[in-house]
Amino acid sequence: MENQNESKKVMVSGIQPSGDLHLGSYLGAMKNWVALSDEYQCYYCIVDEHSITVRQNPAELRRRSVLQLAQYIACGLDPQKNTLFIQSHVHEHAELGWILNCYTMFGELSRMTQFKDKSAKNAENINGGLFTYPTLMAADILLYGAHFVPVGADQKQHVELTRDIAIRFNNIYGDTFVVPEPYIPKVGARIMCLSNPTSKMSKSDPAGCVFIMDSPDEIARKFKRAITDSDTERCIRYAPEEKPGVANLMNIYSSVTGKTYEEIEAEFEGKGYGAFKPAVGDAVIEALRPIREETERLLADKAYLKDIYTEGATRAQYTARRTLRKVAKRIGFVEKPF
Ligand code: TRP
Repeated sequence: MENQNESKKVMVSGIQPSGDLHLGSYLGAMKNWVALSDEYQCYYCIVDEHSITVRQNPAELRRRSVLQLAQYIACGLDPQKNTLFIQSHVHEHAELGWILNCYTMFGELSRMTQFKDKSAKNAENINGGLFTYPTLMAADILLYGAHFVPVGADQKQHVELTRDIAIRFNNIYGDTFVVPEPYIPKVGARIMCLSNPTSKMSKSDPAGCVFIMDSPDEIARKFKRAITDSDTERCIRYAPEEKPGVANLMNIYSSVTGKTYEEIEAEFEGKGYGAFKPAVGDAVIEALRPIREETERLLADKAYLKDIYTEGATRAQYTARRTLRKVAKRIGFVEKPF
């Protein structure tokens, strides 16, 4: 299986199905994933096991997991070229996650900024899974021998911890894991909230968040209301420190049209924010339209989506099982009888 891919370097990434995907997920992650599909052997996961570190509505979690798969495909991820799967379908993730817990220090996990942030936000539910989340993510990555992990800057610390765990394990037992590197794309990596351009676009602020499934009217409205900067010059100039609102809109416009910042500045020379904001909105509407329509088409064919995630899990498990067997042998577990 997949022999033609064996010489390619491996990429692994995932998104939690804990909220509907938005423009930040698309431009910051999925769009880059599509560009990597030819050069790398890619595993793209729907990390539902990570999602339950925060309480989820079961029906919603199930709906969003399948929706997310449809959106992966709709934005251009070819399920033949890429292994698209749902994390909980491949039990090796949870198994290796447990093992890696025993090679990860309490102090290391305590230093993770995502743990600190999430425990501040969910003070009533600081569960063990939230704390050991990074070891499950390490398992996601190490099971497939990933060389690179495309992630946003906020996940770099988790990939670095994964490296430390892999190196520690390799030092004790001999070469077992590929030591991965974070792969942080330059453009489009950080799409900020439209109503508060100093924080990342997030579902928790729906007014400042453009969802992939938003209607063109909703998208237009959100861009019209986007916060620009209260400077007096009111011109379109890329200055992220001084003008974070404009810089964010320029980043979005550049990501969806392929235009450089210089080209954008020239295009809007002498025009104000009133012309710029709807232009960005229109460009985003046109970029998301085919993705939304294709997602809707795919969602109507549940049997097809089931085939895709079944095949994805089968393919993923083939590799995951081999890694887990090697690990089990090295640490001294008796070989599984089945
Ligand atoms: N922790 C990542 C996030 O919240 C999601 C994730 C889980 C992931 N497992 C992964 C990303 C493996 C890359 C590789 O965004």
